[in-house]
Amino acid sequence: MKKNILITGAAGFIGSHVVRLFVNKYPEYHIFNLDTLTYAGNLENLKDITDAPNYTFIKGDITDEVFIPELFAKYNFDGVIHLAAESHVDRSITDPFSFIRTNVFGTCNLLNSAKNAWKENMEGKRFYHVSTDEVYGALEFDGSFFTESTKYDPHSPYSASKASSDHFVRAYNDTYGLPVVISNCSNNYGANHFPEKLIPLSINNIKHNKPIPIYGKGENVRDWLWVNDHARAIDIIFHNGKNGQTYNIGGNNEWSNIELIHKLCEIMDRKLGREHGESAKLITFVKDRAGHDLRYAIDSSKLQNELGWKPSLQFEEGLEKTVDWYLENQEWLDNVTSGQYQNYYEKQYKERQ
Ligand code: NAD
Ligand code: DAU
Repeated sequence: MKKNILITGAAGFIGSHVVRLFVNKYPEYHIFNLDTLTYAGNLENLKDITDAPNYTFIKGDITDEVFIPELFAKYNFDGVIHLAAESHVDRSITDPFSFIRTNVFGTCNLLNSAKNAWKENMEGKRFYHVSTDEVYGALEFDGSFFTESTKYDPHSPYSASKASSDHFVRAYNDTYGLPVVISNCSNNYGANHFPEKLIPLSINNIKHNKPIPIYGKGENVRDWLWVNDHARAIDIIFHNGKNGQTYNIGGNNEWSNIELIHKLCEIMDRKLGREHGESAKLITFVKDRAGHDLRYAIDSSKLQNELGWKPSLQFEEGLEKTVDWYLENQEWLDNVTSGQYQNYYEKQYKERQ
């Protein structure tokens, strides 16, 4: 069935994989990518689908109280998949207000615009908020997992802003009957990941023989999921998730940061033809992140049992693929690290429109 779907933040890491999947898999949908192109937005991530007939890029800010309602009125969206956010925990510690503005206010602006646009008939509509496992706080080293009923206990300004936006999404469902669904996912890794996050930062630093900064003792644990598996889960939840429900998404794949970096160093030694142990010499322990959550682990059995999703890749294979992608796409990495990627819209894209 012909549908107009709005995907926000699709010039970023996860959004780029989601939008590509939707554009290729659903030729009957028209996919609108709304992104304001912050430092994290990179249209080079979407080079291959720029000219697809069922894809339109719209440069715009989700916090804009005039533009966003107009957009909803103009395109009569059937569904929204909302990923646009400030996403980096370290940045939220130095600049919490931009997280409040985008993640909380921006989400509310979208919710309100959807509510007003859909108020006559909400049948068949869906507002999907893509959220994080960080809303649940931190686990001890006790084998426990976050479930969908774990109490919210965010610690960083980033996770507090995502928790707040989740609450607003549920409030719009309870109060106005807005059809919503939420997913809370663990740490993603893969292609197009901005090199401020642990895995791409480390790959880039190893390649250039620069120190790999490990916060504290490197004992904090994260559950890693291949980004394409997250995109597949989003597709399944968007189409088959139940109204008002939350689904946890995770890889059942826990690694302490230091174990993970040793694994990455081994792969990099092999791929770069270095002696075993060479890259690990770059590991440098630095001051810990403030309020650093000890451990995340996700129980995704609800999604697996009710909607039939499961991760497709083992971590070793995923990490190899990821390293290969960064080594094969040195130009992408160079453009991102030099800041060149920020000219892409003006130079190569705007004139097409
Ligand atoms: P990202 O930082 O790579 O991309 C965010 C995108 O949002 C960028 O393209 C940016 O330009 C855009 N954006 C930011 N502010 C905007 C605004 N005001 N208006 C319009 N666009 C704006 O983020 P990501 O890692 O791809 O994360 C996407 C979503 O998934 C976020 O909501 C994040 O909280 C969530 N999430 C991320 C992870 C992860 O491991 N990266 C895990 C779970 C959930
Ligand atoms: O859990 C989901 C979350 O995962 C998402 O909601 C966030 O958007 C995403 O950024 C990610 O958050 P993290 O803080 O877990 O990711 P990051 O890559 O920044 O850090 C991973 C771990 O590595 C964390 O324990 C901090 C540590 N770290 C990070 C960096 C950047 C280091 O030791 N050194 C570093 O230089």
